[in-house]
Amino acid sequence: YVIGIDLGTSSVKTLLVGQDGEIKGEASAAYPLIQERPGYSEQNPEEWVNGTVDCLKRLLQESGVSAADIEGVSFSGQMHGLVLLDEHNSVLRNAILWNDTRTTKQCREIEAKLGDRLLGITRNAALEGFTLPKVLWVQEHEPALFAKAARFVLPKDYLRYRMTGKVQMEISDAAGTLLLNVPEGKWSDEIAAAFDLPEGFCPPLVGSTEETGTLLPEFAALTGLSSATKVFGGGADNACGAVGAGIVRKGDALCSVGTSGVVLTYEEDKNKDFGGKVHFFNHAHPGAFYAMGVTLGAGYSLSWFKESLAPELSFDELLKPVGGIAPGSEGLLFTPYLVGERTPHADSVIRASFIGLSGTHRREHLARAVMEGITFSLQESFDLIRQAGITVERVISIGGGAKNPVWLQMQADIFGKPVVALKNEQGPAMGAAMMAAVGSGWFASLKECADAFIGYAATYEPIAANVEKYARLFKLYQQVYAATRSLN
Ligand code: XUL
Repeated sequence: YVIGIDLGTSSVKTLLVGQDGEIKGEASAAYPLIQERPGYSEQNPEEWVNGTVDCLKRLLQESGVSAADIEGVSFSGQMHGLVLLDEHNSVLRNAILWNDTRTTKQCREIEAKLGDRLLGITRNAALEGFTLPKVLWVQEHEPALFAKAARFVLPKDYLRYRMTGKVQMEISDAAGTLLLNVPEGKWSDEIAAAFDLPEGFCPPLVGSTEETGTLLPEFAALTGLSSATKVFGGGADNACGAVGAGIVRKGDALCSVGTSGVVLTYEEDKNKDFGGKVHFFNHAHPGAFYAMGVTLGAGYSLSWFKESLAPELSFDELLKPVGGIAPGSEGLLFTPYLVGERTPHADSVIRASFIGLSGTHRREHLARAVMEGITFSLQESFDLIRQAGITVERVISIGGGAKNPVWLQMQADIFGKPVVALKNEQGPAMGAAMMAAVGSGWFASLKECADAFIGYAATYEPIAANVEKYARLFKLYQQVYAATRSLN
C-alpha cells in the first residue's frame, strides 16, 4: 500500500491506496484559517502536523492494514505558503498562505527591481499569492524576526520535514515561489541576491517521486506507521490534481471547478513562453511543465448564488431545471468576478455582473447563466493557452463541474473540445499516492501509473450549433470586463 496526503487550505486528507489503484481507506481533519486583518490569511504549521498525525492514526486503525505493508507516503500541498525557519528549523511565525493578499506593494517592487528578468527566469508574473512577495513583506515589516530566518519551505515540505527530519523543497511547488528558474528547474541565485536573501535560504530541491528518507521513529510511533516507510517528494496541489486526473501527456488538459477554478495543460517545451499571462510551472513528471489559468470565483459563484437565492434547495434541485434552458440563458450573461479575477485580468477589485436581465427570466435562467459565466472565464484561460500555440485535444473535468451532466456538456460546447469525467475521482491525494507508487517502484513512470490507476467515464462531445452560439456569446462576455471596470 501507499498513502497520499493532501495538505489543503481547510483540511488535510489522507488516502490509502492498494497496488491495483483501489482506495482502501480515507481520513481527513480540518484546521482553521487565521485572518487577523482583511486580506490576511495565515495558518499555524503545527495544525498541519497534528491534523496529519490524527488522520494517519485513524487511517491505519480503520483500514485494518498492517503498518509493515505500507511502503511509501507522498504529498500534495496547498501552493505558495511561506513557512520561515530559523537555523534550528523552528518555525518563526505563522505561515502566510497563497490566498493572503497583503503583498501588492512587494509585487510592484519585484517588477521594478527585476524588470524583464522576472519573466525570463521564473516565467511567471508577480502575484500577491506567490511566495517571494511574502518573504519581502516579512523582511520589511518584521525585520527582527527576518534576521533570524535561515531558510524557508512550503506547507507540504514543512510537513515532510517533520516526518523525515530533512529540510528539502520539492520542485513543482518551488515553481510557485518566484525564486526558481522554472525552465532549468534550479534556484535562481540572481533573484535571491537581488533581494539580499541569506545564503542557503532556498533549501535543496527534490523531485516528486524521489525518495527523501524514511519516517522518523518518533513520527512513526505517533501514528502507528513503520519507521521503514519511505517518504517521497510529492507535488503542488495543482500538479497532483493533474496527475490524479491522468494529465501526463501532451494534448490533455484539466478543468477543475472547486471554490476557485483551474485549467491547465501538460507541456514538454521548457522554452514555451506565455508572457506571464498564464502560470507556467514545473510538473511532477520530470522535465515536464504545465500552463495554468485560474478563475477565482468558480464553484464559489454557484455556492454564493445558491446561498443567496435558493438556500432551501440542494445543488441537485437547483441545477435540475437548468437542463431545460437553451445555451445562452435566453440573453442573460454573468461574469464570475465576485472576489475579483486572476486569469486573464489579475484584478482583485473588479466585481461580478448579470447583464441582459429580462422580466421573463426565472431562477433557473440565472443559475444557468452563472454556470456559463464560470465556464466562459475558464475558456479565457484556454484561449490564452491556444494563442500561445498549444493544441488541446480533450479536457478531463474534475470537481463541481464534473458532477453535473448539463455542466459537462456545457464545458464541451464552450471549450469546443471533448470533455471526459473520471470514473472514480479522488483529487490531488490520488496524485500524491501515485507519486509514492512510482517512488516505491510499482511503475516506471507516472504515465504508466496513470494508465493503471485512472479510469474514464463517458465523453461529452461538443455539439456544433451550441459551439457556434457560445463562440458568439464568449466575444460579448470578453467585453464585459473592460466595460464594467470603472464601476468599482
Ligand atoms: C495556485 C494557487 C492555488 C493553490 C491552492 O497558483 O494559488 O491553486 O495552490 O492550494
